[in-house]
Amino acid sequence: MIGLVDNALDRSVIGGYSRLGFGLRARGWDADDPAVGSLANRTVAVTGGTSGIGAATAGRIAALGGHPILIGRSQDKADAVRAEIIHRHPSATVRVELCDISDLDQVRGLATRLAAAGVDIIIHNAGVMPPQRTESAQGHELSLAAHVLGPILLTELLEPTLTDSPDARVIFMSSGGMYTAELPVDDLEYRAGDYRGARAYARSKRVQTALLPILADRWQAAGVLVAGMHPGWVDTPGVADSLPGFKKVAAPLLRSADQGADTAVWLAATRPRPNTGLFWHDREPRPEHYLPRTRFSEHDRRLIWEQVRTAAALDANGAER
Ligand SMILES: NC(=O)c1ccc[n+]([C@@H]2O[C@H](COP(=O)([O-])OP(=O)(O)OC[C@H]3O[C@@H](n4cnc5c(N)ncnc54)[C@H](OP(=O)(O)O)[C@@H]3O)[C@@H](O)[C@H]2O)c1
Repeated sequence: MIGLVDNALDRSVIGGYSRLGFGLRARGWDADDPAVGSLANRTVAVTGGTSGIGAATAGRIAALGGHPILIGRSQDKADAVRAEIIHRHPSATVRVELCDISDLDQVRGLATRLAAAGVDIIIHNAGVMPPQRTESAQGHELSLAAHVLGPILLTELLEPTLTDSPDARVIFMSSGGMYTAELPVDDLEYRAGDYRGARAYARSKRVQTALLPILADRWQAAGVLVAGMHPGWVDTPGVADSLPGFKKVAAPLLRSADQGADTAVWLAATRPRPNTGLFWHDREPRPEHYLPRTRFSEHDRRLIWEQVRTAAALDANGAER
């Protein structure tokens, strides 16, 4: 019965993605909440940890005894989030690393620094909705570079570090918007047609989600759990900047940043370890598709992987380290 209601909430979109859906589902979660101390001695890299859901995620990681590393582009914003977390959790160790995650050269530098620090969990949360077609430092469409290429390269470069962790986990913060997008097998870089930021965003999040089973297989030998998720509709600076009209209309329904962070933190901390390669929302695995038009073949999944692999400069066996 609970499953039926939960499924109906998901399909209704407004019910499931809003704070209403979160409130209804969370009623049953008390026994399932990760215990204080469940992330003790675990180092958790959070990209986009300087704002919104990422900052909330880092705070909740510290609350569970973990050591967050805030990855962002602004030293001032990172320092402010770090100070706030330490104010609330004085014993927390919170580090800051600056990196533009869409820039593959900067990602290589970040990987070297994170390998030296040691990392158990990566939460790929940094997100962007470019108003017009913009290219990354290496000439890739920006949302693709920030959501797919940089995160996959970073994880690949950190594979030896993750192998050393007793329980490595990698979590991709996708978006429910990906349900509207088809897999862009013929135009990964969004060169054709009118560019719309929201569409580019949804396409890149679709690619991110489509690759979950492939990445789960690829990093299985390193003992890495791979999970994708979407946070619902969350009141963050990103939504206010990129979707001001939506923010105005949906304001009473939006989740708090803490609520948006919930499933990422749960996936990082819950035991027993969840199954790898799945897509989650509100602590449950969710379908890859709701619309028939977005379905694709396993052949297309492989094709998009080969394109991403080439764009991220990975060879068949791994990144050049
Ligand atoms: N809010 C929602 O309703 C919602 C819904 C679905 C999915 N999401 C996803 O949740 C994640 C967090 O979003 P949010 O709403 O919390 O947005 P936000 O408040 O705008 O935060 C985004 C974070 O990503 C960082 N970032 C963006 N581009 C980056 C880059 N190239 N390199 C490094 N960091 C970068 C930003 O850093 P700067 O401060 O340097 O810009 C910021 O810390 C995103 O992946 C988003 O797609 C959000």
